Amino acid sequence: MLCNSSSRCYLLNPINKTTSFSSQRRSRIGIGIRSIASQSHKKIVMEKNDEAFKFLTKNPYIPPPWASHLSPIPSHTFSLGHFPTPIHKWNLPNLPNNTEVWLKRDDLSGMQLSGNKVRKLEFLLADAVAQGADCIITIGGIQSNHCRATAVAAKYLNLDCYLILRTSKVLVDQDPGLTGNLLVERLVGAHIELISKEEYGKIGSVTLTNILKEKLMKEGRRPYVIPVGGSNSLGTWGYIETITELEQQLQTGNGKLKFDDIVVACGSGGTIAGLSLGSWLGTLKAKVHAFAVCDDPDYFYDFTQGLLDGLNAGVNSRDIVNVLNAKGLGYAINTSEELNFVKEIAAATGVVLDPVYSGKAAYGMLKDMAENPKKWEGRKILFIHTGGLLGLFDKVDQMAPLVKNWNRMDVHESVPRQDGVGKMF
Ligand SMILES: Cc1ncc(COP(=O)(O)O)c(C=O)c1O
Repeated sequence: MLCNSSSRCYLLNPINKTTSFSSQRRSRIGIGIRSIASQSHKKIVMEKNDEAFKFLTKNPYIPPPWASHLSPIPSHTFSLGHFPTPIHKWNLPNLPNNTEVWLKRDDLSGMQLSGNKVRKLEFLLADAVAQGADCIITIGGIQSNHCRATAVAAKYLNLDCYLILRTSKVLVDQDPGLTGNLLVERLVGAHIELISKEEYGKIGSVTLTNILKEKLMKEGRRPYVIPVGGSNSLGTWGYIETITELEQQLQTGNGKLKFDDIVVACGSGGTIAGLSLGSWLGTLKAKVHAFAVCDDPDYFYDFTQGLLDGLNAGVNSRDIVNVLNAKGLGYAINTSEELNFVKEIAAATGVVLDPVYSGKAAYGMLKDMAENPKKWEGRKILFIHTGGLLGLFDKVDQMAPLVKNWNRMDVHESVPRQDGVGKMF
């Protein structure tokens, strides 16, 4: 068992060392080893059970030692996800010579496919509870994964959730439907307030959330506002903590794996702020490459700087993260080539990428590798799959012509039909 922060502990696999000894000694020691093994197995099972019952509980948070100078340090986290998330080798086609890509499966973090948002919400919702909130307000695009994740997390904590969702002028006065993230939001009973892109652009997300906050306060509610993408300095701790998780995972592996680079999608900036700061301060020292799916790199260097300053980190964002443009046609707009890439990667590796974030980031990464192979040759890269699978449902019409693998099963007329054999239920 390895615990260097009280928030999460990871189980170590016992290492079996073999030495030569006589058969009598071996059998006596064998009994000893068996009883030690059964005791440690019991301990492991008990520790696993302890972990299981920590789900949906509030726990004190102690930062990793290398982050203890940051301030403010959150006092608690709320356990919402299933951590550590797995890491495995990702056999992508056409990699430069000796380049290895590994995948960290934050898409498997739990909470109804909430991906990277779970880690931020563990800190943000602990704060909401500490402040005595009775409802949560947040804001994002019509298919925002963050809004859906917040709606689920709020309901887990028995809090109401108000979502301000941005849509087109044409659709703003209509029922938003049930596609993708909307289905989950509406199933868990989130209150949805639609706003047009034009209004959002003119008024801005901070004023919009404040308007709703004031309205709810007048009604006697105690709202807690989470900004776009959960990306503020408090949410940044989610991905600072991921670096501790990674350090521990690498220690428990064979100890030989070391990553030179971390690649991740960037949408609102909180994920890259936490990863790059943690990687810089901790033992990992991997270079973080952020593939931005909206805005431009300068915007993200400045935004990330704000988050780092909010933690009194004393570092320059440009020294710790490399932001690349992967926006393509625009936020949440895909070319057929990108969608075809998502399909090809799924067919080749079984890993389904979301089209808005990790799909564009992986596409951008492989494009950069094809254009600048020398930059990536021989490197070990950890790609973080940040989830977002429900966003794929918004793309079914555009994907339909790319996915043709079906046919009517051919059952020849001569095959005898027998009553009662083809039991259906
Ligand atoms: C699935 C998914 N991946 C990546 C991101 C980007 O993370 P961040 O907003 O922290 O930049 C988001 C949200 O914006 C997301 O929903």
